[in-house]
Amino acid sequence: MSIEYYPEVLGICCRWCSYTGADLAGAMRLQYPPAVKIMMVPCTGRVDILHILKAFEAGWDAVFVSGCHEGDCHYLSGNIQARKRVAKVKKVLAEIGLEPERVEMFWVSSSEGPKFAQVAQEMTERAMKLGPNPVKRQEREAWLAEQQKVAAA
Ligand code: FES
Repeated sequence: MSIEYYPEVLGICCRWCSYTGADLAGAMRLQYPPAVKIMMVPCTGRVDILHILKAFEAGWDAVFVSGCHEGDCHYLSGNIQARKRVAKVKKVLAEIGLEPERVEMFWVSSSEGPKFAQVAQEMTERAMKLGPNPVKRQEREAWLAEQQKVAAA
């Protein structure tokens, strides 16, 4: 049985900047992969390490946190806290055998629709390259088998 892999990417976006940037990308009719699903938060400072780890436990193939540019956070330092937490999650992922590239922090303002589309594209490409999240065992095994076939050909 063949299982076709198409990644699921979670974008956790601050409502003041990145979520509005995503909205602008839509209003500008910019194309970005449908793999990306957006979750709005009041500020990236609201995103805890556990939230990101839970997302991976739930099977998301990649997760990115996107907030206001440094110095522009409406709650002063939420985005700085988020950057530190994402860095910690990268370490945890490496320790448990997952690729740290599966998580990333970005800064996208409300006027940067094209940048949001680029971020969505970049994270989808990463997730495609890294393959399915290992918690999705069947899908991962099928993908690995496919990769071996391609390498052997
Ligand atoms: Fe946007 Fe804090 S309000 S990151």
